[in-house]
Amino acid sequence: MIEEVRELFVETFGVEPTVISRAPGRIEFVGNHTDYNGGDVLGVAVQQGISLAARTREDRLVRGISESGTTLFECSLNDLEIRPPATSWSRYPLGVLWAIQKHGSLFAHGFDIAVMSDVPSGAGMSSSAALELATAYAALHRFDHGFSRKDIVKICRHAENHYVGVPCGILDQGVSGFGKRDHLVFIDCKHEAFSTVQIPADTHFWIFNTDVKHSLIDSLYSERFSECGEGFDAAKTLKPGLECLVDYPVSELRALSKKLSSISYSRVSHILNENQRVKDVVRFLNAQPADIVEAGKQLFASHASSRDLFENSTKELDFLVNELSAYDEVYGARLTGGGFGGAVMAWTSSDFTRANAEAIGKRYSEKFNGNTRILHCLSGEGARVVWES
Ligand code: GLA
Repeated sequence: MIEEVRELFVETFGVEPTVISRAPGRIEFVGNHTDYNGGDVLGVAVQQGISLAARTREDRLVRGISESGTTLFECSLNDLEIRPPATSWSRYPLGVLWAIQKHGSLFAHGFDIAVMSDVPSGAGMSSSAALELATAYAALHRFDHGFSRKDIVKICRHAENHYVGVPCGILDQGVSGFGKRDHLVFIDCKHEAFSTVQIPADTHFWIFNTDVKHSLIDSLYSERFSECGEGFDAAKTLKPGLECLVDYPVSELRALSKKLSSISYSRVSHILNENQRVKDVVRFLNAQPADIVEAGKQLFASHASSRDLFENSTKELDFLVNELSAYDEVYGARLTGGGFGGAVMAWTSSDFTRANAEAIGKRYSEKFNGNTRILHCLSGEGARVVWES
């Protein structure tokens, strides 16, 4: 892909790029909606990602192309406050440049950029976070900025929250930034602390994307966000000084039931138990030898909780998880990402084959009269510069 993105750059701008960056898509492994509740989450950076070629310009223009033959976007660094329409992918790179400047590093010159992706968009693998990280690594290359990897992750999230306008937690940018081959990324979202947890070498991931999405997906995400907020407010009446919802002890959940509607209580039960599952998975993976079976069970339990308590699953996702659970080669499977449609991820050994995956896809088509897009993934490295002149 490095060669392809270089060619796209040369074909579009008539000169060679000076830097090429690469940032991975991600799969949420376990920890559903825990991130914005100050909880823990595990994700995996995959080998599919975004490659971005760039070169500094003499003037203050930023120009970008994403595929051969498509229209170039163009914007001056002076006009970043005038945001592009929500439908334009330019919001992501421009948002990152805007956020870097907000954090004190001012660019004297603009950039030309060319972008290529092998992360399917809309597959719940956060191609947008990958694009943000790839932009940041290219733009900050050879720039005396003093930002750490963690700073860059936070700047990209700032761009997503305040420029693109999506109220996501730190999961997507954190995993794309801190990914490591044969490892999961563990994020303690309250302290914004990132570390990695080793996974067995014979680990494969499969994404089954239903392409079915609830029409109100964004407002449903915000609704869950608010319901968790209500839960946190109620928890504080019992435990003043609580810093975030997940700090409320799971053993004292029942006391909260009197303070909350049954819906908010279900949401809170999901979050507190899900947070515990993330910790348990880390413990099972760190055991010598790693207890894959028990770790996998937590993934199935996570799905059941999303389905029954957080109510962000769909009948399509439930069907896929149920099908996957029949295979011994599947350690665990669950909905991944925001939910209300989207994708299921399966964590498997190498004995789970494409033929197995396609057989599930076939049964899915028979039942739902639609196809599921199947993607095989391996763990990969986090955002970085992969080539420079
Ligand atoms: C989306 C958001 C993440 C996280 C997940 C749910 O993917 O972007 O920040 O909240 O949903 O766990």
